[in-house]
Amino acid sequence: CGIVGYIGGKQAYPIVTKGLERLEYRGYDSAGIVLFDAEDIKLCKTKGKVADLKSKAELEGVTSGNIGLGHTRWATHGVPNDVNAHPHYSNSGNLVIIHNGIIENYGAIKKALQKRGYHFESDTDTEVLVNLIEDIKLNEGVKLGKAVQLALNQVIGAYAIAVFDKTKPDEIIAAKLGSPLAIGVGEDEFFIASDASPFIEFTNNAIYLEDEQMAIIRRGRDVKVRQIRDDKAVAPYVQELQLNLEQIEKNGYDHFMLKEIHEQPDAIKDTYRGRLLLNDGIIKMAGIEDNIERLTSAQRIIIVACGTSWHAGLVAEYIFEDLIRIPVEVEYASEFRYRNPVITPNDVVIAISQSGETADTLAAIKLAKEKGAFVFGVCNVVGSSIARETHAGAYTHAGPEIGVASTKAFTTQITVLSLIALKLAQFKGMLSASQLREYIAEMEAIPAKVEECLKVDAHVKYISSMYKDSPNFLYLGRGYNFPVALEGALKLKEISYIHAEGYPAAEMKHGPIALIDEHMPVVVIATKRGHYEKVLSNIQEIKSRKAKIIAVVTKGDTEVREMADHVIEVPETLEGLTPLITTIPLQLLSYHIAVMRECNVDQPRNLAKSVTVE
Ligand code: G6P
Repeated sequence: CGIVGYIGGKQAYPIVTKGLERLEYRGYDSAGIVLFDAEDIKLCKTKGKVADLKSKAELEGVTSGNIGLGHTRWATHGVPNDVNAHPHYSNSGNLVIIHNGIIENYGAIKKALQKRGYHFESDTDTEVLVNLIEDIKLNEGVKLGKAVQLALNQVIGAYAIAVFDKTKPDEIIAAKLGSPLAIGVGEDEFFIASDASPFIEFTNNAIYLEDEQMAIIRRGRDVKVRQIRDDKAVAPYVQELQLNLEQIEKNGYDHFMLKEIHEQPDAIKDTYRGRLLLNDGIIKMAGIEDNIERLTSAQRIIIVACGTSWHAGLVAEYIFEDLIRIPVEVEYASEFRYRNPVITPNDVVIAISQSGETADTLAAIKLAKEKGAFVFGVCNVVGSSIARETHAGAYTHAGPEIGVASTKAFTTQITVLSLIALKLAQFKGMLSASQLREYIAEMEAIPAKVEECLKVDAHVKYISSMYKDSPNFLYLGRGYNFPVALEGALKLKEISYIHAEGYPAAEMKHGPIALIDEHMPVVVIATKRGHYEKVLSNIQEIKSRKAKIIAVVTKGDTEVREMADHVIEVPETLEGLTPLITTIPLQLLSYHIAVMRECNVDQPRNLAKSVTVE
């Protein structure tokens, strides 16, 4: 979910609704807004998107006031409908709340409140929380801030909340545990948001609340930060943001996803900038250098991640085992944390996450730390929870990724992971100076090669038009291209709602081949380096079952061309860097198919960019 708030001298409605649109990547099942206008609060909420909210709010005249809170939801408790949408009132109608996260013990609290006469309109855990705050406020006769604090000390779960009391309309209380919360500090005005994008055009100054901190934000005055557990005051640290408006707008592209696909040459460059020095053959990475002994003496590397980041982890498994000869295991964070994993202080755990907020990955890190492992983070969002929770890390520097389907985050994760492997290999003396230089030179050639891949766009669009109505797709690859096949299939599923499976090309014989007939499009990644001959045999096997073959091949390839229905040519590169190249046409394929099927590319149904619930 995404939350936004404003308190100051301007009209809150345009700020809050614009902010919600920027945060829609975090969830978009339903949306709501509450405004305080001189004397009273007005609330409007609806199932659907922020655009639906705006139509309803404008029709109902919920548009004026200098204080406002808004919410865009990704449903956890209760179906997405008008009633379950946020904000939620307390029973008296005085308090109103927006909440991102999950209150795990809400059932017990709800029962206790019901016994005391409270009633609930929605099925949400959030409505329980706001009434708990109200109950404490009335019973203990304390101020709102204190009541919020006491209530939060009773809840188990994760939250970023903002609460407002209409009887004291000059303050907003915000608090955070597990879900991100930034406070924009302007002149006589303050903003609250899940990330800084809603207020970037108003201020560059932000306070990021830490876990178990709350903020008392008073109009025209200041922000006070306190620790929720022990009530200690904390001096707020105001940070200057690097983000600019251009980075979070579409810049003429039809969709964020398309913009982000096209940003990859620059994003990859930004990832290695300052870290590669061709002539010295040295790779600068402080997080690695400071911990080099610990990392190179690891008995095992365990990679934990979810979704697309997990696929980047699979690519890393190949790179690491190839270059540094340390055994690697790649785990879904959610499985890892719940199966009593064997972790020792000799293990290194690498957590990969674009957002740095994924709840399962965060929990996996905490578990690994408890067991004594050294935990290294690969995140895109600077200052995110995972970046803070890990012992050391390396950022991907891809810039904000807004399309829900991850693209540039994936390629920059692979870039950073390759740099790490190279750095460790260099330290361990496992690469000669010339091998290292070859790798570095090729890494520097990648952005231009990605640029070249993007030129296949029109051809991929044509292929998309032929297969857009297929109910199923199969993606096959071997070696470094196996994770690429998985990622290609995931992209198609996510945004076009076509069932797709990624498989190791040879393993296809053990099941998926039964699905193949003349209607099945099979995307095969068949580049020159990387088991080329073997993949050719696999193509023959599919061909004889009459499937339609779409092959991604190395430029100039003639053999596959004879067998495939369509070929997409990509430039040649080192085998270890192949995924950075072969992924590009697959991103474009899923993009065009989704557009042709009139799907919402940037906000596919039921998904969220950042999954802060487990
Ligand atoms: C969600 C997103 C995916 C992403 C995954 C992991 O499912 O829709 O695109 O790969 O979370 O997110 P993270 O931020 O940890 O990389």
